[in-house]
Amino acid sequence: MRKKIVAGNWKMNTLPAEGIELINGIISKLEEVPSDVQLIIAPPFTHLALANEQIKDTPITLSAQNCADQAKGAYTGEVSAAMVKATGASYVILGHSERREYYGENSEILNRKMAQAFENGLKPIYCVGEKLEEREAEKHFEVVGGQIKEVLFNLTPEQMANVVVAYEPVWAIGTGKTATSDQAQEIHAFIRKTLSDKFGELAQEITILYGGSCKPSNAPELFAQEDIDGGLIGGAALKAEDFIGIAKSY
Ligand code: 13P
Repeated sequence: MRKKIVAGNWKMNTLPAEGIELINGIISKLEEVPSDVQLIIAPPFTHLALANEQIKDTPITLSAQNCADQAKGAYTGEVSAAMVKATGASYVILGHSERREYYGENSEILNRKMAQAFENGLKPIYCVGEKLEEREAEKHFEVVGGQIKEVLFNLTPEQMANVVVAYEPVWAIGTGKTATSDQAQEIHAFIRKTLSDKFGELAQEITILYGGSCKPSNAPELFAQEDIDGGLIGGAALKAEDFIGIAKSY
């Protein structure tokens, strides 16, 4: 049985007080969420410790949105995996398309970030996904396959067992354009097949999330697909009702 996860990536949104309010809203609706669905929230770095305090008696799990590729030292403005871990977070999102696109994160950097995450006991939520022009040129399998091979293929099976993969087509992020459930299933199955080429049966145990304009109205159809094990939610994770609405879709 694969773990079902609904994770909220808050991106660069909310001030601490707004974050607290959002978490309170989520906590007040927790009983609506099926007990086998794990909820993860990924607030900005600045409110991770605060959020951790607030969720400590709940089943909600905490994630950071990024971590540094170096352990410590003269890297002004960076936040290390050890620092993230010390806030109480247990996951870290790595390789989000916004980080790849705006901050030049490539596989070389992501391999180092992965190593930092594992050295500090953080579980990576590793994001992959193609851009619109790559989808239109029918290069999506090649692009996503490359993102998987260049980073995840360097892991040991023990490490891989602790990774959550998120497929987020860049053209669907924040655009209101969702991949159809068939499109999403097709590439999720491809990701699982690619992982099985390297890790064998373990691929059946890996949670693969869909992300990109996921909302309560389209989540049921997406989550009904065989290889879609939940969602990585952006915009809709900023409203407790929508975030819980998505989690209830199972
Ligand atoms: P949206 O749900 O806003 O499209 O964002 C998806 C995403 O990038 C989550 O990481």
